[in-house]
Amino acid sequence: MNPDEVLLDILAHAWSLLVRGGADRKSPMHTPVVASVDAEGLPQARTMVLRKADRAAGTLRFHTDARSPKAAQLHGRPVSVLAYHAGENVQLRISGTGRVAADGEPVDALWNQSTLFARRCYLTQFAPGAVLPGPASGLPDWIEGQQPTAEQIAPARPNFAVLWIDATAIEWLHLANTGHRRAVFRAADGWAGTWLAP
Ligand SMILES: Cc1cc2nc3c(=O)[nH]c(=O)nc-3n(C[C@H](O)[C@H](O)[C@H](O)COP(=O)(O)O)c2cc1C
Repeated sequence: MNPDEVLLDILAHAWSLLVRGGADRKSPMHTPVVASVDAEGLPQARTMVLRKADRAAGTLRFHTDARSPKAAQLHGRPVSVLAYHAGENVQLRISGTGRVAADGEPVDALWNQSTLFARRCYLTQFAPGAVLPGPASGLPDWIEGQQPTAEQIAPARPNFAVLWIDATAIEWLHLANTGHRRAVFRAADGWAGTWLAP
């Protein structure tokens, strides 16, 4: 393989790790770190569940609470996603722009596809990050430890939001005793890759 073919292979492998991360809860790439910049210009990083990676669309999808600070920090703003696969010795750093939607047909469909237990988190009475008088989940007492019915969960729907990340670059780092390797692939270059010093 010539170096360009190697780069094509690496990009395909990077996406396959992400696609698997979205589909397989046991994958180390299922829970990457998503970093935003807050209103003060400070970095804010948090773990999130990767729900789907779509190579053709160049997107990563996450679910979140529309009331959470990150929802505002991420919409139309720069975002960095960091995932590390220890078994493959691969780190991926994805740069992109966030797109947060709380209504519309695709969001309704994703809400309806989630399990009732997963949807229960969106029943919390307080916005994520609100100060509480003591330790508490924020869920109403009547639903603690229980699965809600479809009727009980309906009022939580406005709190559910989907975050799509439109990837603009993927940086790949492979660690190996035989020599580390690093490359970056940019959407602006038609996803062509460039080798970098590791
Ligand atoms: C394993 C794990 C998975 C998580 N998945 C999500 C998720 O999918 N969506 C989400 O909004 N928060 C998720 N969280 C919680 C976030 O890391 C974070 O604490 C919370 O969303 C508040 O973030 P914010 O204040 O930056 O908005 C997860 C945390 C852990 C530890």
